[in-house]
Amino acid sequence: MTADLLKGLNEHLTLEFRASHEYLAMAIWLAEHDLPGFSRWMRQQSTDELMHAQRIIDHLVERDQKVKLPSVSAPPMEWKNAEALCAHVLQNEQEVTASINELYAMAEKAKDRPAVVMLQWFVTEQMEEEAAARAVLGRIRLAGNTGVGLLMIDQELAAGNMPGMPVDTTKQDAD
Ligand code: FEO
Repeated sequence: MTADLLKGLNEHLTLEFRASHEYLAMAIWLAEHDLPGFSRWMRQQSTDELMHAQRIIDHLVERDQKVKLPSVSAPPMEWKNAEALCAHVLQNEQEVTASINELYAMAEKAKDRPAVVMLQWFVTEQMEEEAAARAVLGRIRLAGNTGVGLLMIDQELAAGNMPGMPVDTTKQDAD
């Protein structure tokens, strides 16, 4: 693996761990504000981000490359409203997508086929994650930040009727 690509993959870990940390903080804020469906969605996103970091770590370890875990700063614990929170999620995902695309281009240029294959999964995943964040944000903007509209979206998220939701949410509760 080229030194540049190794550096880039290690630096990308910061984005995944940061997102996981922020999404967990968001899940807490949403639960505090009586939005359990939104909270469950963000908690699942937080878990997904850890899995994303793990994928890259596994790839580096399998290829005998040096992993450098980043430090992660404390996330924001307060949000103006659900719309501001979801807008931040979308912005996060767009940043992650840009980083993945850059890494993919580096891997292609270096003819690093294992890295290209590994990153291909992320290209698809990012498309889905951006679409889910955009869908939730769009529905909040349609329904408004308060009242019945927001509660309806929360119920949809609780029922798993939105993109990006875990398939079997009841199983999580049982664990
Ligand atoms: Fe791992 Fe949501 O980016």
